[in-house]
Amino acid sequence: MRALVVDHSDAGPIRFADVDEPVPSAGEALVEIRHIGLNFGELNYVHQWPAGAVHGHDAAGVVVRAASDGLGPPAGTRVAVGMAPHAWAERVAVSPASLGTVPEGVDLADAAALGIAGVTAFRVLRKRSLLARNVLVTGASGGVGHFAVQLAALAGARVTALVGSPERAAGLRELGADRVLTDLAETGNRFDLVLDTVGGPLVAQAWSSLAEGGTLHLVGYSSGQDTTFPSGALFGFGEPRSIATYGDRSGTARGVPRHCVAPCHGRETSSLSRRFRSALGQTPGAYVTQWRIDLASVRLRDTDESVESISGAVGYGSPHAFSRAFRRVRGTAPGEYRSLLRK
Ligand SMILES: NC(=O)c1ccc[n+]([C@@H]2O[C@H](COP(=O)([O-])OP(=O)(O)OC[C@H]3O[C@@H](n4cnc5c(N)ncnc54)[C@H](OP(=O)(O)O)[C@@H]3O)[C@@H](O)[C@H]2O)c1
Repeated sequence: MRALVVDHSDAGPIRFADVDEPVPSAGEALVEIRHIGLNFGELNYVHQWPAGAVHGHDAAGVVVRAASDGLGPPAGTRVAVGMAPHAWAERVAVSPASLGTVPEGVDLADAAALGIAGVTAFRVLRKRSLLARNVLVTGASGGVGHFAVQLAALAGARVTALVGSPERAAGLRELGADRVLTDLAETGNRFDLVLDTVGGPLVAQAWSSLAEGGTLHLVGYSSGQDTTFPSGALFGFGEPRSIATYGDRSGTARGVPRHCVAPCHGRETSSLSRRFRSALGQTPGAYVTQWRIDLASVRLRDTDESVESISGAVGYGSPHAFSRAFRRVRGTAPGEYRSLLRK
């Protein structure tokens, strides 16, 4: 069969080659690949892979043979393959943990792009409630940036998208960005969460625009430039600000298991399809648990529902985090909110 393999010669970094058919183990499904998803790392860090290795991590296709241990999606299921090494071949043997069922109405080509970029944005943004928060996405024109803008907007954040040039701003407002900038100095905003994929001097700039209690998440460094913090920039009073490396690898009950888009079966099935629907702009009302809090709150703001109905809708999350969200929406103090909730 044909595959795209790593090529370290001048003709590289990848080329088509004939490779052996994959032999699935008992716990692996055989998937016929229809589309592949291309990520920054596959081109820029290709030297880390041996010449001749089948390349790529994200793809989408159809299961042609289910895993023989009976787990995972049955033959005929349309699936996304996410964060699975050696995915760019006509057929791949892959664990169901790296597969996600693609819902009706979602194009397989779109689903192929979701894996690394979509899950990376998701893992950062689920760290806290984003309702009515100021979120900055740098490198917003990129793969991670596009997903981050959409997901943060769906969670009720005010999203500022930073891009390298005006031409690269195309489509970001439609995806939910409130503001699209080419220079961070153009904003007087203080950000509660920054998702940075660019690195370099922008990191120091973004740090100085963080709100008290805000976090700067370092997800990538596509500029390849160094960061220098001016003397004193890392000192401050008030609620601590923090810089976080990208490190959400936990497979929690509400989360994305390690190294995967999501399993195709059992408990996680519905959360996967919600994630797909939301990431691809469909039915944002039904979203993964953490964002359901925010969206419930947004509905409250829009429809003026009672506090009782929203407290019933929440059912998850710390009262503290929620009371802050409520305060921002309703303009009440957190204490007042708590007493309202207890009534
Ligand atoms: N931690 C993880 O698991 C993980 C996962 C995915 C990605 N990443 C990392 O995140 C970064 C972005 O990935 P991606 O898939 O979004 O890449 P991408 O689609 O290629 O986008 C790269 C973005 O970086 C911007 N950029 C590049 N050089 C720049 C510079 N000198 N100044 C300002 N902006 C610059 C580009 O903006 P303009 O075109 O607007 O200039 C573009 O939007 C990469 O470093 C990647 O390795 C990490």
